Amino acid sequence: GKPWDLAAHPRLAKGKVVGVVVLDGWGEAPPDPFNCIHAADTPTLDALKKAAPERWRLIKAHGTAVGLPTDDDMGNSEVGHNALGAGQIYAQGAKLVDLALASGKIYEGEGFKYIRQSFENGTLHLIGLLSDGGVHSRFDQLQLLLKGASEHGAKRVRVHVLTDGRDVLDGSSIRFVEMLEEDLARLREKGVDARIASGGGRMYVTMDRYENDWQVVKRGWDAHVLGEAPHKFKNALEAVKKLREDPKANDQYLPPFVIVDESGKPVGPIQDGDAVVTFNFRADRMVMLAKALEYENFDKFDRVRFPKIRYAGMLQYDGELKLPSHYLVAPPEIERTSGEYLARNGVRTYACSETVKFGHVTFFWNGNRSGCFNPSLEKYEEIPSDIGIPFNDQPKMKALEIAQKARDAILSRKFDQVRVNIANGDMVGHTGDIEATIVGCKAADEAVKIILDAIEQVGGIFVLTADHGNAEDMAKRDKSGKPLRDKDGKVQTLTSHTLNPVPIAIGGPGLAPGVRFRTDLPNAGLANVAATVMNLHGFEAPDHYEPTLIEVVDK
Ligand code: 3PG
Ligand code: CO
Repeated sequence: GKPWDLAAHPRLAKGKVVGVVVLDGWGEAPPDPFNCIHAADTPTLDALKKAAPERWRLIKAHGTAVGLPTDDDMGNSEVGHNALGAGQIYAQGAKLVDLALASGKIYEGEGFKYIRQSFENGTLHLIGLLSDGGVHSRFDQLQLLLKGASEHGAKRVRVHVLTDGRDVLDGSSIRFVEMLEEDLARLREKGVDARIASGGGRMYVTMDRYENDWQVVKRGWDAHVLGEAPHKFKNALEAVKKLREDPKANDQYLPPFVIVDESGKPVGPIQDGDAVVTFNFRADRMVMLAKALEYENFDKFDRVRFPKIRYAGMLQYDGELKLPSHYLVAPPEIERTSGEYLARNGVRTYACSETVKFGHVTFFWNGNRSGCFNPSLEKYEEIPSDIGIPFNDQPKMKALEIAQKARDAILSRKFDQVRVNIANGDMVGHTGDIEATIVGCKAADEAVKIILDAIEQVGGIFVLTADHGNAEDMAKRDKSGKPLRDKDGKVQTLTSHTLNPVPIAIGGPGLAPGVRFRTDLPNAGLANVAATVMNLHGFEAPDHYEPTLIEVVDK
């Protein structure tokens, strides 16, 4: 294969400590009362911006620049960190599933042939996020899969729906359930016994990530597999409407529910001989459920019953673990990431975040690969996130702790790259709570200061950027940019990510005086960062990488 040795950069020295800071959910938008980053006190980041255009600029973090199907797709952490770490743009899960559905190849693949063996005598269960956010799943893909599966022999179908409100507006769950019910009714007209069987809010039921809280997955298991939940309803529309009546309820955190028949019996628990498909294409929030569905030996919670099923993921969620072993669409094969190159060229790396973002700077950064490339050169450290407390009640999160760990790693001089993700802009932004998000942004700025001070002390270099927008816009807007109001005149809260570009700043005493951003890459995006970072470590980037953002001029 291609060699792994990186050529020395002709003008930039090796051996500098490079701090790589990813601010999660931190885009650039005009000043506005709904721009929490602008509203927050962020002196450190404001100072960096003054170095524009030579050492501060904006880069694209959404749409085709990060491998999503269209430029109407907002960015997200998976594709964002993939691009940052890989230095190349890959067609991502959303796009690959679109292509497989459009060509019909999805029904010819190994995964579909495998689950189809259950169609004769068993039920096909579809579990996933009911949303058109395009981050974890897409409603139109679910629609096509339902139609295609029934045309390919599924006679009994049960859908287990996780309501969103995080990648889409809160309250939109009602419309999605209505639309799904219309589709299922059409299938029933064609003789397919198709129904919604269970559900719950994505943040409280099933879709935990990075083993933050297995209880979330257990609630999902009980509802989807065992057919047990504290709330029972005759249909899903009634369930979602009733559960949302609680003034504190929202789509993200709806409690688990099951649908029961006239006699009170659940309509769709998962039984021996059934087929199960988890229809999310994104990995992080499906891996835990996939383990529960697939692993014979499992001790994270008591499954009570472990039905013998044929299970396939929409994609394979973890290539290292080969999990799940059956899948409908092959995932993007992200190869030759900067993490692997740098490890093979002797660069020592420290990566850290808190649990809810830990896999972002490790697993996603390294092209959806768990673990280190070379444990003798790399250390990955996770700071446990607080569980059970909403993020708007703890908007500072673990920003300070992450910064302190990074500072210690920098000052230890044991590492050449110290990489962190600071989660506040994103995690607090997703709550839609403006006051709390402002507090979170300030905490993120303070964390950055700690890291930059440490870089200063060791004569190092910093690269500060973000994976996608979120906190810089908390209002849903019309095409002209005006906030949209609901029927009571209240501005509609945007809990999701955005289409905005993100900043990138470079600096530090170790940065050679002639280094500045090139002016010939106005459309650069996150994938251009990896080559930039390699240069700052003193290496030329490989030819197949997106071009570096920097040049060196005589000073
Ligand atoms: C989530 O999974 O929390 C959201 O859907 C997307 O957020 P992230 O892409 O920032 O993780
Ligand atoms: Co997010």
